[in-house]
Order: sequence, then structure tokens, then C-alpha cells
Amino acid sequence: MHAELNPYAPGAGLRPPELVGRQPEVDAFDLLVARSRRGQTARSLVLHGLRGVGKTVLLNQFRVQADRAGWLVVDVEGQTSDSGRQTTRRRLAREIALAARRLSRGRAMSAAVLEALATVKSFGMQFGGLGFSIELEAAVGRADTGVIEIDLEELVEDLAPALREQQRVIALFIDELQDLEPELLGALLSVQHRAGQRGWPFVVVGAGLPSVPGTLTAAKSYAERLFDYREIGSLPSGAAGDALVVPARRAGVTFDASALDVLVDASGGYPYFLQTYGAAAWDLAEDRRITEADAIGAIDRGNAELDSGFFPGRWASATPAERQYLVAMSEDPDGESSTGAVATRLGVAANATSQARHALISKGIVFAPQRGRIAFTVPHMRAFVRRQADLDLVD
Ligand SMILES: Nc1ncnc2c1ncn2[C@@H]1O[C@H](COP(=O)(O)OP(=O)(O)OP(=O)(O)O)[C@@H](O)[C@H]1O
Ligand SMILES: [Mg+2]
Repeated sequence: MHAELNPYAPGAGLRPPELVGRQPEVDAFDLLVARSRRGQTARSLVLHGLRGVGKTVLLNQFRVQADRAGWLVVDVEGQTSDSGRQTTRRRLAREIALAARRLSRGRAMSAAVLEALATVKSFGMQFGGLGFSIELEAAVGRADTGVIEIDLEELVEDLAPALREQQRVIALFIDELQDLEPELLGALLSVQHRAGQRGWPFVVVGAGLPSVPGTLTAAKSYAERLFDYREIGSLPSGAAGDALVVPARRAGVTFDASALDVLVDASGGYPYFLQTYGAAAWDLAEDRRITEADAIGAIDRGNAELDSGFFPGRWASATPAERQYLVAMSEDPDGESSTGAVATRLGVAANATSQARHALISKGIVFAPQRGRIAFTVPHMRAFVRRQADLDLVD
């Protein structure tokens, strides 16, 4: 069928043609927005789950809901590299400065707004570098120590009266939370904690890998109670079917029941795979009906695409020793292993593998679901690693 009409959207953070199976989270965020409008607090949300399940898409959805309610919205992404970490702070400061302009737009500035913007400016000068403009003097002695935890707290404290005046909230949307530098993470948690106690309209909304709840609690023990943690996972088969059928129906295209079964089954309900197979099936179908043969072909084509895009990026970033570790993990059928068993397979003592394991964790390829266990962050990565190991043997 016409490729230009293909509705499916395989790709990191791409909004799907139909956002299925996430209504409970969308409703929970709506409730947070509604409560804040009444000046009531509620725990914010942190999304966690494997790669490609739709965390970024859902975070963006929350962002739209927040924006619609007039919140000041700030977007940041955790970065692993050292330079990335510096960029994150700068970006945070600049985004806050940009968002804060909303306070003064279209109205005379109240004393509270003037005070808030002066502190935003001083925070921006401290962390944002040069080149952003607020035509005000920076506040002296506010948000200018250079210690992120102190300055962020003063910033939010000084923003609070202006935000309340306008019934707004400032929300920091942070993706890839597991990669946020520890100092900034600690500062955010501490300020969120303080905000809850003082009634400051400040909300951190986060998303990241399955390790995120553990990382947050390790940073500050009260983080456990600070958020409503939502695991985002594969879609149940009804919702997975809808992810394929609903967008097609809008274009007058149908799936044969057997075709749908084949595709949903192969995807395991994982959103990224549903979009990939859906896109391939659409391209292969001859007319407005997607048959079982199209579906089978789509899985082949989709897998070839995944094997040249989704998976290899992670594989390519692994060193030979780390790849051996992944291959040893792949002997376990369900993508999760005991670290001891992996070491035994590699024929070394357990502590001899810790370097490779830690490196793979920091690259976001694996995570530790619990002590002594290790698992792939990427659904179906195990099978890819096995295919890779077979290729390497042939080479
Ligand atoms: N609820 C959904 N229904 C259908 N498709 C979805 C849904 N959520 C996400 N997708 C699709 O899944 C793919 C992955 O989404 P996204 O990038 O948000 O995942 P992620 O969890 O952030 O992955 P990563 O951990 O790699 O950042 C995209 O192609 C997106 O269109
Ligand atoms: Mg993402």
C-alpha cells in the first residue's frame, strides 16, 4: 500500500498513531493536574520499564497535559557522557528561563513575578552560561552559590509565590533518569521533598529503565515515598491488537484475524515491535486488506529492520569482553540470568566479570533486577545476541 500513507511510527519517542493501553497513567496525570489546580498536592509519576515500551511517548503525553493546564514545562534528558552531564545542567537552566517567561507574558508583572524572574536570572547565570536574556537585574544572594541543591531550592522557593498567583506549577520532565548525574538527581529529589512539605508548586516527572526506582531510593531513601512509580510494559493482546487495527481502520484498511494474531504474537505486545511490524505489513499489503501472508512477510522484513537499527546500536557499543558476557547471558531462555551462572559459563570467578557487567549497566544494555541477577533492558535482545553469536562463529 501507499508508503506515504503508512500510519505506523517505529522509532524512539515517536508518537504512535494510537496511544493504547496507557489510560490509567494518563488519568493519573490528569488527576495530578486537577489537584494542583486546587492547590492540593499529589505524588508525581515516575515511569520505568524496558527499552521501547513507550516511556518517552507517555512522558511527552504528560507534557502536553501539563502544558494545556498552563504549567511551566521544562524538558531534560539524562546523559551518560561527561560532556553530556554539563550540557544537562545548562539545558535545565536555559529551559527554566524560557519557561519562566510564561509568567510575564501578556500581563503586568507583579512583585512576585519580578522577584521570581530575578532569581531565575541568577540561577541561569550560575548554570546556564551566557546568552539568555531577561531584562532584569539578577537577584543577589539567591540561587547563586553554584551548589545545585541549594540554588535549585532557592529558585523553586522564589518561583512559588508567582506560580501560586497564577495557579501554575513548574514541572521538570526528565527522561533517561538512570543517566542523570547523581548530584543533580539528589538535588531534584531533595527539592521535590521540600516542595511537598512547603506546598511549592514544583513537580518532577520522570522516566527511565527498570533500575530507576532503585537508583532513586539509593540516592535519597525518602524517594520511595516521593513518587507514584508506574511500570510501563508490553501491552496485553487486546490493546496490542488495537495499536495495529485502529490506525488502519481510520484509513479504511483491515487486518485478517489470522494476520493480526501472527503480528501480535511475534511482537510479544512490545510497542516498538508492533510499530515496526505494522509498518512493514502496511508496505507489503497489495490492497486494503492485510493478510496472513503479508503478516508473515512483515515479521521477516521487520526483523531485518530491527537487526539493522534497534538492536545493533547497543551491540556495537559493547567491547569484546562485554559481548562475551552478553552471549553467556543469552543462554538463559527468558532474558534474565544469575550473575554467578554467567561467570561460571565464562569460566572465571564472579568478581572477574564485574567490570564488564558494570560497563554494560552504565551503557543501559542490562540492569540488575535484584542482587545477583542480571537482565537485558531490551526486549528480544537475547535472541539478537544469539543470532550475533552464531554469525561470529561463522565468520
Ligand atoms: N501506547 C502505545 N501504543 C502503541 N505504540 C506505542 C505506544 N507507546 C509507544 N509506542 C511506540 O513504541 C515505540 C517506542 O516508544 P518510546 O520511544 O516512547 O519507548 P521508550 O520506552 O521511551 O524506549 P527507550 O527506553 O529506548 O527510550 C515508538 O515507535 C512508539 O510509537
Ligand atoms: Mg525513551
